[in-house]
Amino acid sequence: MNHPEWIAILDYGSQVTQLIARRLREQHVYCEILRYDTPAEELRERAPKGIILSGGPCSVPDSDSPKCDPALFDLAIPMLGICYGMQLTAHALGGEVQRGEKHEYGKATMRITKPSPLYEGMQDEVQVWMSHGDKVVSLPEGFETVAESDNCPHATMQHLERALFGVQFHPEVVHTPQGAQMLKNFAYGICGCSGDWEMAKFVEHTVAKVKETVGEDHVLLGLSGGVDSSVVAALLHKAIGHQLHCVYVDNGLMRYKETEEIEALFGDAFGMDLHVVHAGDPFLSKLEGVSDPEKKRKIIGNTFIDVFSEKARELSGDVTYLAQGTLYPDVIESVSPIGGPSATIKSHHNVGGLPEDLHFKLIEPLRELFKDEVRLVGRELGLPDYVVDRQPFPGPGLAVRIIGEITPERIETLQQADLRVREEILIMENHLDVWQYFAVLLPVQSVGVMGDDRTYENVIAVRAVESRDGMTADWFKLPYDVMDRISNRIINEVRGVNRVCYDISSKPPSTIEWE
Ligand code: XMP
Repeated sequence: MNHPEWIAILDYGSQVTQLIARRLREQHVYCEILRYDTPAEELRERAPKGIILSGGPCSVPDSDSPKCDPALFDLAIPMLGICYGMQLTAHALGGEVQRGEKHEYGKATMRITKPSPLYEGMQDEVQVWMSHGDKVVSLPEGFETVAESDNCPHATMQHLERALFGVQFHPEVVHTPQGAQMLKNFAYGICGCSGDWEMAKFVEHTVAKVKETVGEDHVLLGLSGGVDSSVVAALLHKAIGHQLHCVYVDNGLMRYKETEEIEALFGDAFGMDLHVVHAGDPFLSKLEGVSDPEKKRKIIGNTFIDVFSEKARELSGDVTYLAQGTLYPDVIESVSPIGGPSATIKSHHNVGGLPEDLHFKLIEPLRELFKDEVRLVGRELGLPDYVVDRQPFPGPGLAVRIIGEITPERIETLQQADLRVREEILIMENHLDVWQYFAVLLPVQSVGVMGDDRTYENVIAVRAVESRDGMTADWFKLPYDVMDRISNRIINEVRGVNRVCYDISSKPPSTIEWE
C-alpha cells in the first residue's frame, strides 16, 4: 500500500541507516528503507517525494561495490546522498571519487559557503560528524560545492535544478546537532512533504496492510507479555480480530501472577482468542536437578519449542501466518549490501526454530520501528502503562535468577521477594529511569537471629540498573529508604529469607542477569 507522502531510503549497509528513517519519522514524514538496487521503474510507480542514498562501508571505485540503478537520477525526484550515497551520486554522474588513505572520523566544523535549501535558517558554521575514507574530489557537471571543512573541500554538493544533493557527513546521528533540521529541510523544503505522518497513521496503515495481506487467513502469535509481542497482538487484533490466535506459554518461571494479568488483559479486556498453555510441569520436571546455567537455558528453549509447536499444530488447520514482534534493531544490524536487507529472527521468543512440519509465512508489523516508537504505538492502541513501560524480561524467565537448582519452593521464594522489589521501586517517582529491577535467589544460606532463635536461611540479592540498551549498565543508586523498605519487607514477609544484599556491579564486567 502506498502512502501519498513518503521518502525512500536506499540502504548501502551503514550501521546508522535506520537512524535516517527515525529522524524523518520524528519530523512526521513517512519513509521506507529499501534495497540498495531498487529499480528506478519501481520507484517511478511508487512515487516517493524524495530518495535518500544511505552511507555504507564499501568503496565506490571498487567494481563490486553496491551501486544504485543509474536511472534513479533521471526520475526528477529530489535526491540526497549521504557519505557513500554522495560518492555514489558523484561517481554515477561523472565526478571523481578518490580512495582515502586516511579515515576521517569524528566531529568537524563545516563552513557553508553558498546558499543551499538544505541549510536554510542555519549559521555559516555548523558542527557535523564525519566518518569516511573515500571522498569526492571533482564534482559532476552542473554541481556546485556549497560547504567545506578542513579535510573535505566538497563537504556538500548540490545541483539545484535537478534537486540532487550530497553530503559527506552524517546528518542522521546526534553528533551532527543540526542534522535533524537538515533532514527536515530536505523533506519539507526540497521534497515538499507536509509532515502528515504520525503514530496514529502508522497504526491505520499497518492495520490496512495486514488486512490486505492476510485476507481471510488466520495468524498465530506467540505472546510473551513483553512490550513487542503485546503491541503486535493489539495491532493484529485491531486488524483481523478473531483471525488472530495468541498462544501464551506459562513455563512455571514467570513472575508472581503474571499469567493471570495476561489472561485478564488480552483474554478478558481485549477479548482476544488467547490460548494459555499451563506448562509448568514439563518445564520443571526437565529442570529437576539441573544447576548449570547453559543447560537450563537449553532445556527451557527446547521445551518451549515443543510446547509451542504442539499448540500450534492443534491450531494450524486454519493458520497461514506466524506473527513476530521483530523490531528494527533485531533486523540484522549491518545489512549486507550484497544480499540486501535480511532479517534475523528474534531468537529469544524461540519461535524461529519451529519444526519443519510447521511452516508459516512470517508477518512482522513492527520491523521498521525502534523500541520507543513501539511504546508509542502501544499507547495509541490503548495498552496500559504497565505493559507499554514494562522492563525487559529474559525468555528463560526466573530460571536465570535462581542460582543453582530450580524447585517449586525456590521459585515461590523468588517470586515473593521479586514482587516486593517491584512494588517498592514502582512507587518511586523516577521508576522509569530504572532499566531493570529484580531479585535473585542465591544458593547460599546464612545465619540470622529471629526472636531468640538462630536461623540458617536464604540470601536474596537485589539488582537494579540503569542502561540505554542493555549492552552496558550501571547499578542504580537507589535511595536508602527504598532499599530499607525492600529489605525489611523481604525479610519480614518472605518465608525462608533472612538476608538481603544489593548488587553494586556495573556491566561490563558484570552482566545484568546473574546467570
Ligand atoms: P545480560 O545479563 O547479558 O543481559 O547483561 C542483557 C539483557 O538481556 C536480557 N537477557 C536475556 N533475554 N533471554 C532473553 O530473552 C536470555 O537468556 C537473557 N539473558 C539476559 C537481560 O534481562 C537484559 O535485559
